Formats: sequence, structure tokens, C-alpha cells
Amino acid sequence: MPILGIETSCDETACGIVDSDGHILANVVASQIETHAPYGGIIPELASRAHIVNIHKVVDQAISESNVKLSDLEAIAVTNGPGLAGSLLVGLNFAKGLSASLGIPLLGVNHLEGHVSACFIEDEKFNFSKNDIFPSISLIISGGHTELVLMKEYDSFAMLGQTRDDAVGEAFDKVSRILGLGYPGGPIIENWAKRSMKKNYKLPRSWLKDDSEFSFSGLKTATKNLAYEKIYRNNLSQDQIALEISEISNAFQESVLDVLLNKSISIAKKYDCKNILVSGGVAANGYLRSNFEKNNDINAIFPERKYCTDNGIMIACRGLIDFMNKSFSNPESIKINPQLNIK
Ligand code: KG4
Ligand code: ZN
Repeated sequence: MPILGIETSCDETACGIVDSDGHILANVVASQIETHAPYGGIIPELASRAHIVNIHKVVDQAISESNVKLSDLEAIAVTNGPGLAGSLLVGLNFAKGLSASLGIPLLGVNHLEGHVSACFIEDEKFNFSKNDIFPSISLIISGGHTELVLMKEYDSFAMLGQTRDDAVGEAFDKVSRILGLGYPGGPIIENWAKRSMKKNYKLPRSWLKDDSEFSFSGLKTATKNLAYEKIYRNNLSQDQIALEISEISNAFQESVLDVLLNKSISIAKKYDCKNILVSGGVAANGYLRSNFEKNNDINAIFPERKYCTDNGIMIACRGLIDFMNKSFSNPESIKINPQLNIK
């Protein structure tokens, strides 16, 4: 009983297929990094156009990789929000057409719940029946969201708090732009930070009163000021600039980690949780992963790196849970919702 998942909420056109036991049968992602990199960020109009070009190819490739026939599919799961309106429309309309032509159910998936589902993939299998997982705190850290969510079941999500301004991924991307580096900023800043040697710059931490809330715009401004003070106001050699970039990248990453780790632990303790589930593109960050994993306060669970950034498997997995629960909606009622969030 395979389920096909389609993801087009941002700049990745992706399709994944899982069977009803959760085995991953195919995972195809077409990245648009080359399209958007010259602009230092995503251009929504270009993203929608690229999805239109890629969606057929990506689905065809997933079908051929999985060795299942289109006629074998049991349901189509598709991201209907949050995301860019034009991008979401391409995926949803494609999925509606496919489910109607095959006469199978259509499942609308919240992209953020999809990210969380990736935490339960082990050895290429979506494991959704373990009993020692909940209650858990879910920390979702992506390009558009930074949220702490209480989970009591695989499909039970209660929002505790989120960022008041920038998302963590967005802050990585903006800091990369400030430092004159490329897009997407996350992996680039991570690599520069690895070269830091002195580790003597300290950037502020925004603790806020409530541990479930975040703010990263002040850190972004402080990083920008540090870059002006250490790099742009001086006449440095290329080697000296490289050294400063690595020190500033490291200081930024340290501040992000400090806040995310301490707030997540505090909230997990408050709600008596067994685990912290960390998901979203920023969860691919090696420095974050190793520091969360070595903390002694609470167990941290991360998806494999390839399932942290946007993919179709996480959408198929989240759809599979609704499919098993027979939680279907009328396809006509499934609409895009760019502002969709966790309740
Ligand atoms: O989840 P995702 O693929 O798309 C959204 O739903 O937004 O996340 C993309 C974000 C980007 O901001 C990107 O810079 C960040 O995840 N990211 C990282 C890393 N890889 C991707 N941030 C920090 N370290 C990384 N290694
Ligand atoms: Zn995402």
C-alpha cells in the first residue's frame, strides 16, 4: 500500500514514496539553489516556475526508483501550507490531478508536522509505533519557523511558543549575506565556523522571559555590527578577512545553539518530556547536532541529515499516519494555506 508524498512549499521540488509499513521506497529532491543563489535568497516567482518544470520529472523518477506502478498507489499526500503561495499551488494542483485520475484519497499535510515526522525515520523506515517516545518536545527550526511544540502522540501537536521575529534559518541566511557569503547560509556559516581558532567573540543571547519564545533579529543586528567593526571598517588582507569571517560565524552559531539548547531543555523539563525532537533544515547543522546529543539533561532525536531539509518522504510519512487513521478530507476542501501553523 504505497503512499506518494509531494513537497513544493519553498524552493525544493520533492517526491517521496513509503509503503504502509513505513519502508522508504523512493526519495527524489530537485533543488533550486542555482536559480536563487545569484539573488542571495528565494525569488517566489522563479520558485513557482521551476516547480512547474520539475514536478513531472521528480514524480516520474520517484515512481521508477520505487518499482511501484502508479496504479499501485493508495493515496497522495501533499504539503498545503505553510509556504509560498505560488509554490504550494503547483504541488497541490498536481497532487489533486493525480489523485483524481487514479481515484485515490488526497491528504493535505502541514509542512511543519512533516518535518517532525522525519525524526521517526530510522534505517530507511518510518517507525510510527514505538511507545517510549511521548510526551516529547518538538523543536522545529527551519528557514521560516522556530517553534517549540508539545507532542503526546505521533499526530498530536500543541504549539507552546515560536519566534517573535526572524526564524533561525532566516538568521543564518541573513548573516551569510552580511558576511558576503552565499545562499543558503546555514551550511556555509557552519563550514566557516569550523575554521574558527580564537573563539574570543561573544554575541548576545536573547533569553526573553518566556522560555518557549525566541527572538533572533537582535542577534542578526549584533552580528552585522561586529562585522562592520572587525571587517568593513578596516583595511584587511584577504587572509585576515577570512579569519574574521570564521570567528564571527562561530560566535553567531554559539549564540544560536546556547539559546535553542537551554530553552528546549527548560521546556522539556517543565512538561516532563522524554525527548527533544529536533527537525527542519537547521537541524542538519553538525555543531547543533553534536551539542544537543551530548547534553546530559535530556535525550535528543534528530532526523538523518538528508531528511532535515525539505523532502517528499516527510510529507508521505505524515500522510501515512492520517491514512492509517482514515482521516481523509474531501479533495475540494483541501486548499493552500501559506500561513498554516501548528495550533
Ligand atoms: O526546512 P528547510 O529546508 O526549508 C524550510 O522549511 O524553510 O530549511 C531551510 C533552512 C535555510 O534557512 C538554511 O540556511 C537552513 O535551513 N540550513 C541550515 C543548514 N542546512 C540548512 N542551517 C544551519 N546549518 C545547516 N547545516
Ligand atoms: Zn521545511
